[in-house]
Amino acid sequence: MSKPIRKAVFPVAGLGTRVLPATKTVPKEMLTVVDRPVLQHAVEEAREAGIEHFVFVTGRNKAVIEDHFDMAYELEDTLRRRGKEKELNELLADLPKAGATSFTRQQAPLGLGHAVWCARDIVGAEPFAVVLPDMITLPGKNGKRCLAQCVEAYEKHGGNIIAAETAPKDQLHQYGVLAPGQDFGATFEITGMVEKPPKGAAPSDQIISGRYILEPSIFKILEKGEKGAGGEIQLTDGMIALAKKRPFHGVRFDGKTYDTGSKIGFLAANVAFALARPDIAPGFKAELKKIVGKI
Ligand code: UTP
Repeated sequence: MSKPIRKAVFPVAGLGTRVLPATKTVPKEMLTVVDRPVLQHAVEEAREAGIEHFVFVTGRNKAVIEDHFDMAYELEDTLRRRGKEKELNELLADLPKAGATSFTRQQAPLGLGHAVWCARDIVGAEPFAVVLPDMITLPGKNGKRCLAQCVEAYEKHGGNIIAAETAPKDQLHQYGVLAPGQDFGATFEITGMVEKPPKGAAPSDQIISGRYILEPSIFKILEKGEKGAGGEIQLTDGMIALAKKRPFHGVRFDGKTYDTGSKIGFLAANVAFALARPDIAPGFKAELKKIVGKI
């Protein structure tokens, strides 16, 4: 039996330059999709997948993230005194248990691989999830979001798991791309991967899409600090080294991922997540129709 996945690492130390000027003072993970920060959507997905401990790798100007996952005593007290029970109960339901969050600093944004390595002491010697919080997901037919589907795949195959998505051929050079081996339907064996392949050289159209389950031996590899594409310490390069010794499987995510780290992706996420909310969709649809009718 594989060890359960209890901890998830959320790398949140990037500069978010693609969504400037919004991210000049507000971390991109705290930008709002519908009525909650992007990061809260990612934490809810992790919680649904059975994650018990949330590890945030932060940087300077990100202190507001720590506050968001703490009690807001004055606010809660005011809501209580004003009889706003519904709002109060929602806040309390979202609050992680005391001691269920950890924060560490990356100090300098040297790359995703380096950010994950910064969580090594908090994660310890157990397999763990990595959730890129700027990628947020809506469930497909089976009602599960991406990380829950990765955990299912991990329970089947063990080892290491990467969520995959199909990308248009002319965009593959922007992503980490997987080389598939044996096909199991919802999952597949990974026989190779490459970060940002030159145009026309991608091994498939299956891209790495922001959810991973990794064995702790990745930390020893990332410790070397070898730089890859863009001069950054890449998680993909660490996984390539680990895949020489350990099994990796891909999950064909049944659902939809939105990259809120780009302006268009952020806008699309707001529309899709609003339309998926029974309390907001009816009113929003009416407004949306007025706008779309003019295009
Ligand atoms: P991105 O490359 O999308 O984030 O990394 P970025 O660097 O903030 O984006 P741009 O290109 O400047 O707009 C994916 C995730 O990894 C984190 C980011 O915060 C984001 O959640 N990250 C990236 C780190 O924590 N540290 C890094 O050194 C790089």
